[in-house]
Amino acid sequence: MTDLSEAIRRRRSAARVTGPAPTDDDVLDLVAAAATGPDHGLMRPWRLISVRGAARSTLGRAAAADLPPEDEAGRDREAAKPLRAPLLLSIVFTPRENPKVPEWEQLAATSAMVHNLVLLLHVRGWGAMWRTGPASRSSAVGAVLGLAPGERSLGWLFVGTPDPVSIPAPRPAFDARDRLSQLTPQGAVTPLFPRAGTAT
Ligand SMILES: Cc1cc2nc3c(=O)[nH]c(=O)nc-3n(C[C@H](O)[C@H](O)[C@H](O)COP(=O)(O)O)c2cc1C
Repeated sequence: MTDLSEAIRRRRSAARVTGPAPTDDDVLDLVAAAATGPDHGLMRPWRLISVRGAARSTLGRAAAADLPPEDEAGRDREAAKPLRAPLLLSIVFTPRENPKVPEWEQLAATSAMVHNLVLLLHVRGWGAMWRTGPASRSSAVGAVLGLAPGERSLGWLFVGTPDPVSIPAPRPAFDARDRLSQLTPQGAVTPLFPRAGTAT
């Protein structure tokens, strides 16, 4: 079993992926596990739409339709973007009214699920990258994806087999000292790890 901290530290987004991609059954299994993330009220305020094969071109054409006809190069670029991966998982945020769970908490739960999914894909050897861009805000793309009123596209996980040549090195550990502080009994918030020469 892969150590979780090792998986988190080593994971990088895979900008270049090829086939094969996880099967629908793989996706079902991984999403079921990813959905165990923190979720106030267990609302699971999201759904995923798988886009493979020729459906990627359907998505690309919709994204291109938002650009002016004279911008031919831009339209071609936008149309080709979904072809960068064999599988796109469209992330749809589906917030609902809940007096105890404001929308931002539902978005936080969705984000936790998506990153769980990214990590699970990583430990199974798949490459993934969360991408948004203009297509995620396009009404034509929203229509193709069948977004209901109130639903919002959060972009796509581009998923596939990572190109071994272009897997980036793990990032150096982040120095989190500046982000950590503490509340003292006297009611002051002070650095948890004061820098040398910093008064406490
Ligand atoms: C919601 C969201 C949307 C993103 N959209 C894009 C995007 O459209 N294009 C892009 O290059 N990176 C995008 N990123 C960033 C990449 O997914 C990735 O995290 C970033 O390149 C850092 O690489 P790393 O994951 O290897 O640290 C997005 C990240 C998030 C969380």
